[in-house]
Amino acid sequence: MNMNFLDLPQLLSASGSVALPGSKSISNRALLLAALAEGVTEIHGLLASDDTARMLDALRALGVACAESGQGRLRVEGCAGRFPVRQAALFLGNAGTAFRSLTAVLALSGGDYVLSGVPRMHERPIGDLVDALRQLGADVDYLEKDGFPPLRLKPAQGRAGGTVEVRGDVSSQFLTGLLMALPLTGREITVEVAGDLISRPYVEMTLGLMARFGIRVETRGRQSFSVPAAAAYVSPGVFVVEGDASSASYFLAAGAIAARPGAPLRVEGVGRRSIQGDVRFADALAQMGATIEIGDDWMSACRPPEGLRGIALDCNHIPDAAMTLAVTALFARGETRLTNIASWRVKETDRIAAMARELGKLGARVEAGRDFLAIAPPEAGQALRSAIIDTYDDHRMAMCFSLAAFGAPLRINDPACTSKTFPAYFECLEGLVAAAPVIAIDGPTASGKGTVSARVAKALGFHYLDSGALYRLTALAAREAGVDWADEAGVAAVAARLDAVFDDGRVWLNGKEADDAIRHESISSGASKVAALPQVRAALLFRQRAFHCAPGLVGDGRDMASVVFPRAGLKIFLTASAEIRAERRYKQLIGKGMPVNIESLVQDLRERDARDAARSVAPLQQQPDAVLLDTTFMGIEEAVAFVLDLVRDRGLAAGRTGVPGA
Ligand code: DC
Repeated sequence: MNMNFLDLPQLLSASGSVALPGSKSISNRALLLAALAEGVTEIHGLLASDDTARMLDALRALGVACAESGQGRLRVEGCAGRFPVRQAALFLGNAGTAFRSLTAVLALSGGDYVLSGVPRMHERPIGDLVDALRQLGADVDYLEKDGFPPLRLKPAQGRAGGTVEVRGDVSSQFLTGLLMALPLTGREITVEVAGDLISRPYVEMTLGLMARFGIRVETRGRQSFSVPAAAAYVSPGVFVVEGDASSASYFLAAGAIAARPGAPLRVEGVGRRSIQGDVRFADALAQMGATIEIGDDWMSACRPPEGLRGIALDCNHIPDAAMTLAVTALFARGETRLTNIASWRVKETDRIAAMARELGKLGARVEAGRDFLAIAPPEAGQALRSAIIDTYDDHRMAMCFSLAAFGAPLRINDPACTSKTFPAYFECLEGLVAAAPVIAIDGPTASGKGTVSARVAKALGFHYLDSGALYRLTALAAREAGVDWADEAGVAAVAARLDAVFDDGRVWLNGKEADDAIRHESISSGASKVAALPQVRAALLFRQRAFHCAPGLVGDGRDMASVVFPRAGLKIFLTASAEIRAERRYKQLIGKGMPVNIESLVQDLRERDARDAARSVAPLQQQPDAVLLDTTFMGIEEAVAFVLDLVRDRGLAAGRTGVPGA
């Protein structure tokens, strides 16, 4: 995968089944509890990702033996509440689950530790947890800014048991961390939650997992939790991690947007028996009208015949999966209003702001408040705009925005950020979706590929990309802006902000019709010059891929099959002898009243072919998987019919039905 960006074509449909990776929240809790327990725990189905790697690294640095035992299994030798290493500096990246729970546990474990993370981790508040720990005698110093990591933890000064108060309205991870740490004190302690407790299902998960490791927390009412005296964690022996319910949300949403009835999208690994709150995401999709089925450890979704509808939902119980609803809203009628999501502002990024900005790029109508987000699709009759999506080093931004590709082609910047919780996300998605078909037609100059491509596109009702016109427009725009054609960075900047509109076989530049201007000899020569500049080609790459829309595309140009659409469903290399091409060009030019000499045209074409084949950027070459179509002895009609036959043989025209939309 290119680490800088991933270009997605418009997707038409989704179906199939995916085995989910292990739950991040359960994996990191289970790792810590197994480390603190007495005895050996074998963990099955542990998530392999950045966040779990941070927790594992930390536990190993604390002297806990963790050994891979094959098939995704890990053997953890518990330290019975006392880490062997009493002094350490731990780096925890941007793993909130690891940072909060280790802060609590290490502050009460009698050692001397420094905890730090990436810059964003140092902007995520932790003061409420530290305040609670101090009530228990913990000795915690802020190393930079009060209330935020990095932290220095020294052995706590003993205190009697009693009651400790913690705020629950910023992050439920403070309460989770505290609860998991309390058994280390050996005393009976009651935690009273001040303020509303958000994301309660995560706290339920913590209590459930503590019970699996032998400690029953007594809950009184909704806000009071008591850990008994002399409680110690004991390994359950084998612990199986269920699939990640937040990760499931992307696939279920894909199903709700684009799986046809009878061919749903199914996730394996979470279902009715799950202990994760995010399984309730399925209820939200059902409210939007999606057809949902749930088994003990699987769920499936498909699109309702009447389409999805917007909803208003308090998302306090599904803060992470709710991001997926924000993008699903692009495919629903009316407005979707997500409320009670203030915690988004202190996650991997300020998710309310990031979401509003990126949804806006797609043409959605968005309203963002302190603790809510309202989303409506573009005005009736308008399609989503293709856009370059920034992901803010936030795995969930990358994953949920991939769903917008059901509405338009997209570029996702920094797709590798999904490694925080789901390194193989895009590979999994790819196995479940069908993209709009693309037919790439390459070939030498004057081979007739333009005419054939345009006719094939028309016959199929597909979009048509004349990539040569983009290079010509770039040359024209550069000239109008006074940028020299040899100035690579200057021309690339012009290409990047090219204000060109293609409509019904005609083209406009900066609001002015430009068909004739770009066909001028001087502009042809400029196009050939600017097309040889790698930065210009790079600047026009997404521009070209943005044509890859439903119901399909015919792309014409010399690098369509190699660089722009290397995975095209059909690649044609269209050629003809130099003599025939010269003759066709001759008729064209004479028809326009331009005096030319046929010998010099042949000579000219031969030289251009040699130059094009030899040039270092995007050389003209027939791809190994391209079909050769030599039109030396063939008319246009015959060539078009030949391509259309291949399209039908390969079933590429079938994607015209079932295009999702609001
Ligand atoms: O096909 P055309 O003559 O309109 O192309 C104009 C110029 O752009 C020509 O010099 C070839 C170049 N070109 C290119 O390098 N890559 C493409 N995909 C299309 C055209």
